[in-house]
Amino acid sequence: MPNPLLFQPYQLGEITLANRVVMAPLTRNRAAGGLVPSPYAAEYYAQRASAGLIIAEATQVSAQAQGYQDTPGIYTDDQVAGWRKVTDAVHAKGGRIFLQIWHTGRISNVAVQPDGLAPVAPSAIRAVAKTFVGGAFVDVSEPRALELDEIPGIIADFRHAAANAIRAGFDGVEVHGANGYLLEQFGKDGANQRQDAYGGTIENRARLLLEVTAAVAEKIGAGRTGVRISPVSPANGITDSDPQALYDHIVAGLDRIGPVYLHVIEGATGGPRDVAPFDFGRLRRLFAGTYIANNGYDGVTAEQAVESGAADLIAFGHDFVANPDLVERLQAGVPFAQLNRETLYGGGAEGYTDYPVYDRA
Ligand SMILES: Cc1cc2nc3c(=O)[nH]c(=O)nc-3n(C[C@H](O)[C@H](O)[C@H](O)COP(=O)(O)O)c2cc1C
Repeated sequence: MPNPLLFQPYQLGEITLANRVVMAPLTRNRAAGGLVPSPYAAEYYAQRASAGLIIAEATQVSAQAQGYQDTPGIYTDDQVAGWRKVTDAVHAKGGRIFLQIWHTGRISNVAVQPDGLAPVAPSAIRAVAKTFVGGAFVDVSEPRALELDEIPGIIADFRHAAANAIRAGFDGVEVHGANGYLLEQFGKDGANQRQDAYGGTIENRARLLLEVTAAVAEKIGAGRTGVRISPVSPANGITDSDPQALYDHIVAGLDRIGPVYLHVIEGATGGPRDVAPFDFGRLRRLFAGTYIANNGYDGVTAEQAVESGAADLIAFGHDFVANPDLVERLQAGVPFAQLNRETLYGGGAEGYTDYPVYDRA
């Protein structure tokens, strides 16, 4: 039997992936010491290095960008040094790794904001959403609207974070434009009621994501820049009145900038794929680069998607938590281990580096 396409190498810009299985970004809240990746992070990611590409967890671009406890950053030299241990460990095992760079915007709480100030957002509209601080899920805080003259600073923070990620040895970065965080808050009209150049029309609402992507691509190269979007996901209490028109515009704009990949959460993040009518095939056709599909895939649907050309690469999220050898399990057709929800967020090695590989006995 020929080797299924899912397990064949793929050329992503200048880097060669061993297969077409991607580890989706997974927040694990273990960067307790100064928001530097935990001592266990290198082992955790190295255990998963047989993925064709790892996209490391959402990592804030500044102190203001933080929304949850103990999520890592990439804006200080100590954080860069911490991440260098992770990238070295993954590369030593022949893996490839990007970093997802993140501003949470209104999905934050004063408890994790510098000086306890209000989180920032396109408009002063509080999300109906929770964040994780002090070991518990709590309501997000009331945000304040960013001033127009603060926006260049946000773009600069992403650019600086991307440069730091390359210094830390990452093969590239993924701009987090999904799941109800800052860049998506600007895009979707349920969170953006601005009346300046960043609000109102689709063109204006899309502007920040496109400017951030262009700035990152200019800094580190479009070939090392990816973008993640979630057009219809209600994650973190976000809504939009016309997502197809919005994302047709965004993806056409991204195509002109030319990031190496577009990573699309198809449906409700971690939930139903058919949450709202949406033509993901249109986005695929609008974007000339690599299309990574995510959300609810299994071995069968993943292989179908790459064989049919619907996607180039398939990202798996929660299955990578309890299955460090997910690629080998997919290839062998053996069952997946189930994750323990109790140890998802925070803590140490338990539920993080102690999931075993499949035991044939
Ligand atoms: C524990 C956990 C943490 C997550 N953290 C992130 C994150 O940091 N960034 C992100 O874009 N998505 C995050 N997600 C969403 C996943 O990347 C993925 O989109 C989702 O799990 C759906 O894929 P799946 O059906 O293969 O699990 C997270 C999901 C889980 C379960």
